[in-house]
Amino acid sequence: MPKLPLLPLLAGAALAAAVVANAGADEAPAEGKKVFTRQCVSCHIDAAEGPRRLGPTLFGVVGRKTGSVEGFRYTEANKNAAWVWTPEKLNEYLKNPREVIPGTNMAFAGIRSDNDRANLIEYLKTLK
Ligand code: HEC
Repeated sequence: MPKLPLLPLLAGAALAAAVVANAGADEAPAEGKKVFTRQCVSCHIDAAEGPRRLGPTLFGVVGRKTGSVEGFRYTEANKNAAWVWTPEKLNEYLKNPREVIPGTNMAFAGIRSDNDRANLIEYLKTLK
C-alpha cells in the first residue's frame, strides 16, 4: 500500500484533535472549573469565606499580591515573592510551582497541559 495517502488523513486527525482540545472562549471557565475541582480543591477553596484548607483561598487571586491572604501562614518564600498574580505569572507558576517560588510548601508538581492551565486561569479570573 502506498504511504502517501495517509498523510492528509493524519493531518485531518491532528486538526480535529486540536479543535476538540481547545475549548471555545465561552467554555474555558467551565472547563477550568473542572481542572480546579480535580487538582486544586483538596487544598484551596474558591470562595471568599469558607473552611480553612492547606492552601489560601484562591478567591480574588488574579490581581492579588503574593502571600497576602489575611490570617494564612505562608512560607517566607511565598510571602517574599512580591509580585501581583497576573494571568501570565499564574501560567508560569502553575506549570512548575517550585521553580517559580523555590522554597514553597505547596506540594503540587504542576500542570503540564497548556490548555488545562489556560482554562484554569480563565476560571480563576471569574473568582471575584
Ligand atoms: C497539596 C495541597 C495543594 C494543592 C493540590 C494545590 N495547592 Fe496551591 N498552595 C498550597 C499551599 C500550602 C500554598 C501556600 C504555599 C506557601 O506558603 O509556600 C499554596 C499557594 C498557592 C498560590 C499562591 C497564593 C498566594 O496568595 O500567593 C496559588 C496561586 C496557588 N496555590 C494555586 C493553586 C492552584 C491553581 C492549584 C491547582 C492546580 C493548587 N494551588 C494546588 C497547597 C496546594
